[in-house]
Amino acid sequence: MFDHLLAPNRVGQLELPNSVVMAPLTRMRASADGVMGPLNADYYAQRASAGLIVAEGAFPHHSGKSYPGQPGLETPEQIEGWRLVTDAVHEAGGLIFVQVMHGGRISHPRIIPGGLTPVAPSAVQPEGLARIEGEKLPLPMPRALETDELVEVQEHYATASANAIEAGFDGIELHSANGYLLHEFLSDVTNLRDDGYGTDVNGRVRFVVETAKLVAERIGAERVGIRISPGQNVNDISETDALNTYPVLLEQLNELGLAYVHAMESPPDTGWSGLDLVREHWTGTLIANSNFFTDWDPGEADKLLADGRADLYCYGRRFISNPDLVERIRLGAELTESDAKTFYGGGAEGYTDYPTLTAPA
Ligand SMILES: Cc1cc2nc3c(=O)[nH]c(=O)nc-3n(C[C@H](O)[C@H](O)[C@H](O)COP(=O)(O)O)c2cc1C
Repeated sequence: MFDHLLAPNRVGQLELPNSVVMAPLTRMRASADGVMGPLNADYYAQRASAGLIVAEGAFPHHSGKSYPGQPGLETPEQIEGWRLVTDAVHEAGGLIFVQVMHGGRISHPRIIPGGLTPVAPSAVQPEGLARIEGEKLPLPMPRALETDELVEVQEHYATASANAIEAGFDGIELHSANGYLLHEFLSDVTNLRDDGYGTDVNGRVRFVVETAKLVAERIGAERVGIRISPGQNVNDISETDALNTYPVLLEQLNELGLAYVHAMESPPDTGWSGLDLVREHWTGTLIANSNFFTDWDPGEADKLLADGRADLYCYGRRFISNPDLVERIRLGAELTESDAKTFYGGGAEGYTDYPTLTAPA
């Protein structure tokens, strides 16, 4: 049973003991300065039996911070804090990437250190609310990045990725999904630029491809993955021509020799499969994830791999509540449901206190 999920696999130069990936999951439990500590190290070490962990979205520079309690990859203290995490995971026999996430327009001056206005490809205001210390405030109008700032932002991605390697990560995943900065460049609704970084498909994919190339040059392409979510509508993102955009993006990314593309399935109302679209145009390793709505249980995820629709399968919420998810899959054991009330912020509750089969709560 579940032979495909449990089969060893390869990502870049890494040999993985199984094909189950832990999704990047923002948990908002770093310090106010974006520094991880022993509790975070415990949380990730508990989940080290995943074939590969992709740690939660971390901001490359404070101007790209999206959430209170989000960790960063910018300061020496943040690098030190992450080292506790990577050491703990490696000691437990695991492998760990970190997601480099610039939040773009999904933020608020009260979240960004120094009270900075969130930035985006264009001044297009998202609908939605920012959660700040128990309050919910409308997401503000972002400031459009100037053309000469783009190189600086790309440099933030590259420096943060080098910092991640210094912190002991096995690689990084660029977050180009779910309505954050890189995805905002891809979308024809949020990218209205006319400076060569917008206007048509080639213009809109340019910032993402250039960033991936720079990061790959800095830390090695085999240590760089990228996450995309064609047709996704979270964080008020929308794309009217995703079916044109993603083939062009993937054809250009194919040239870079990246470790993987991590694709989320498109929402049911698109009427097409983002996952199959990616499989058709991406020649490298493909990690599949659901779309928040489709719920592929281990049997379905195993079939997806058996059918050749992806190479590895990534679980998010099931890893929150089942630290020993891979062992449970192996044994066909029951899975614990996750509790959404403790997803974001707080301490050990709903974070490090989910039981394993051998150590019930
Ligand atoms: C609490 C929570 C935090 C998340 N944080 C991130 C994140 O930091 N980066 C990201 O790309 N996706 C994030 N996601 C999306 C998940 O990675 C995943 O795509 C989603 O949960 C669907 O997979 P699942 O059905 O296995 O949970 C988050 C989802 C949840 C529930």
